[in-house]
Amino acid sequence: MYMTTDQIREAYLKFFEKNGHTIVRSSSLVPYNDPTLLFTNAGMNQFKDIYLGKEKRDYVRATTAQKCVRAGGKQNDLDNVGYTARHHTFFEMLGNFSFGDYFKKEAIVYAWTLLTEVYKLPKESLMVTVYDKDDEAYNIWKDVVGVPEHKIVRIGDNKGGLYESDNFWQMGDTGPCGPCSEIFYDHGEDVQGGPPGSPDEDGDRFIEIWNIVFMQFNRQADGTFLPLAKPMIDNGLGLERIAAVLQGVHNNYDIDLFVELEKEAASVLGVTDLKSKSLRVISDHIRSCSFLIADGVLPSNEGRGYVLRRIIRRAVRHGRLLGAKDVFFYKLVNKLGQLMGKAYPELVERRDLIERTLKKEEEQFLNTLDRGLNLLESELLKLGDSKVIPGDVVFKLYDTYGFPADLTGDVVRDRGYTVDMEGFDKCMAEQRARAKSASTFGIDYNKELKITENTVFTGYDTLNDSAKITHIFKDGEETDEISTDEKAVIVLDKTPFYGEMGGQIGDKGIITIGDDARFIVEDTKHVAKATIHVGRVDIGIFKKNDTVNASVDKENRADIARHHSATHLLDAALRFVIGDSVAQKGSFVANDRLRFDYSTSKPLTADEKKQIADLVNAKIQANLKVETQIMDLDDAKKSGAIALFDEKYDEKVRVVSMGDFSKELCGGTHTFATGDLGAFVLLSDESIASGIRRIEALVGKSAIEYLDGLYDDVAKSKALFKLGNNASVSEKVSAVLEHTKALEKENESLKEKIVALECASLINQAHDVKGVTVISAKIDNYTAKELRVAIDNIKSRMSSYVAVLGSASEGRVSLIAAVSKDLTDKVKAGALVGEVAKYVGGKGGGRPDMAQAGGTDVAGLDKAISAVDSLVSDLV
Ligand code: ALA
Repeated sequence: MYMTTDQIREAYLKFFEKNGHTIVRSSSLVPYNDPTLLFTNAGMNQFKDIYLGKEKRDYVRATTAQKCVRAGGKQNDLDNVGYTARHHTFFEMLGNFSFGDYFKKEAIVYAWTLLTEVYKLPKESLMVTVYDKDDEAYNIWKDVVGVPEHKIVRIGDNKGGLYESDNFWQMGDTGPCGPCSEIFYDHGEDVQGGPPGSPDEDGDRFIEIWNIVFMQFNRQADGTFLPLAKPMIDNGLGLERIAAVLQGVHNNYDIDLFVELEKEAASVLGVTDLKSKSLRVISDHIRSCSFLIADGVLPSNEGRGYVLRRIIRRAVRHGRLLGAKDVFFYKLVNKLGQLMGKAYPELVERRDLIERTLKKEEEQFLNTLDRGLNLLESELLKLGDSKVIPGDVVFKLYDTYGFPADLTGDVVRDRGYTVDMEGFDKCMAEQRARAKSASTFGIDYNKELKITENTVFTGYDTLNDSAKITHIFKDGEETDEISTDEKAVIVLDKTPFYGEMGGQIGDKGIITIGDDARFIVEDTKHVAKATIHVGRVDIGIFKKNDTVNASVDKENRADIARHHSATHLLDAALRFVIGDSVAQKGSFVANDRLRFDYSTSKPLTADEKKQIADLVNAKIQANLKVETQIMDLDDAKKSGAIALFDEKYDEKVRVVSMGDFSKELCGGTHTFATGDLGAFVLLSDESIASGIRRIEALVGKSAIEYLDGLYDDVAKSKALFKLGNNASVSEKVSAVLEHTKALEKENESLKEKIVALECASLINQAHDVKGVTVISAKIDNYTAKELRVAIDNIKSRMSSYVAVLGSASEGRVSLIAAVSKDLTDKVKAGALVGEVAKYVGGKGGGRPDMAQAGGTDVAGLDKAISAVDSLVSDLV
């Protein structure tokens, strides 16, 4: 049955909603709080902590249409895009999930029912695979669903080790995994290819459309598999693949959405061949690039930003292949928004940012693209019979012309060349330091403290609460008891302590049992949904299950709250002054300062900085009430509340507003009114990465202390200058600078006069060496520059001479030699000064008529000067 991609997505979510699943929105492509993943690569990513038993939700069945990127990192399809019918850098995965609720039977039956009854695929065209040893799944397919046995294929560990199989799925090197069962669609005998498990399974006839994963293990970094507390279901159906089947096409790039995108790209580029490989690459890449930028990734030279850069540059190169003369890629963003903006409104909301970023990146790359391609062609000519491009060439293209290695590979692939990646990596080794940040994506997620309970946060309303100790950890291990002086982590069932999150630092304070025991909380953080109090026992003993009093340091919290509220005012003021295109890229809120990172194309002018600071201060003086409200995410967004790009929000969100000036989604702690902030000082606005700037600012006590410091400094300066109260220090300083300049000038002209006098006496002492007039002298405390002035003076007064002057100043010897033109045939100043310099442990040289040298042996200077006569005598 023909269905559009929009209809397929909608039918999937509706089907599972009807069957008790909660529709959950797609999470960001930047995985939230998961250092093991480069990009979100499957529907289950956002539920990982539930699978691992670290988090609980109030639903046990969920369904999603999830944005996924498989480029870079463990699952990387970038190189295949354009060369196969079904690889994408960006795709949508339709998923349904059971968290300890239903298992194999229901999961299989749901998948089959949806495919055959909703999508109305003929049963005869489907076949399935199961993991070799999974008799349970085999029998469900056979007995419950009624699939004939010759259409159920068992697949074992066909990739080497234990569980290395097409029918075993894992998200990354560590984390949730399990055996799976896949559903294939048979395109019919006319199409080349064999069933799964057969030697020609890679043909186009049997296409995998659905993967049902029976999550059973948590894979550890050492390769062992620990069982999950409860087996769960993770189902995934690639939207583009099922669309191809339902729309009767063999190639994903022939489905409705891609046809439209390809048409648009063809019209922008003036191309007529709609089946061109490059058009496919471009229409694939515009999706991943736009979605990544909408989720806050910007092109850069490391980590996620570098993957984005690679994809953009690849698209630009393919545009060039199709004859693009100018910047074109960004022109496709509008069409993509029209096609997918209903399901993913961020494409429309952030169109401006996406277009600007793509345009800038393409412009930059165009500066070097042609030169890089020319270099590559000339290197190819040098290769002779070899079909491998050496690593150092690949590196040069990367380093000088911005060609990512895979781009070079892509350029030459059709001509049968490959790139020497090993050699390239070797060359890259020197630049490893930069790559370091990308390698943080290998942290072992399982090494963290294991806490499954949620901690209830009571700290919006109170700073003092009684609670029960649920866990104690010492040196990362769970323990029952801690006593005086021990460092530990305490977990409570509820707490008024705010754990570090959303850029706001954690609270400090104390946990006590009457007067008997006191734990100093030095920091508060989160592990999954639990809050952990990090610190040390000051006095007494704490045991698991003890009832304690948790008391937040009030002053410290108030200082943090002031800086957090200030961050919101700053964000709003920045948007007011610069415009809504400003996107927050992160923030850091402490008790004594704040940082606010934002994407922008240019620095703030002094005037804009002042406008922003003035506006924030005006809003502080207006003493706006700070109010919080819990709302549905959609309502909050509709009301204009600002949300962060890469934040994962629950369906119910907290909205913090300050009068009608600022409204943001935020879980942080704030003041009661903006007047509590006291005063705001904007310290700096600096670039921290390409296209990203950081503002640092202070409020409250920190602002006052800073202003006090400035005041003190001004007061001291005024006293030094003997200025009255109303006089301006900067005017005085600039007058003093002018005066100093005038004095320096005067000093210089005096020096010149002295030099002239000294030179006159040197000329008087000139002596004859074999008919040549020689001046050689040591002058005390002249710098090299002053020696030059002296020699110029001598030159202007004499016509035939050899002159060598030397001086020691600040432990260094400077020498200078000059020879009049009539003598340079015989005596060369450069050679002469070089010989003289040997006496002072130095060397030098220069032109035949003028040369300089330096040395460090001050004691040798007298000898050096006395040697001049004999050196000259040898030459003439
Ligand atoms: N997580 C499974 C996959 O990506 C469904 O194939």
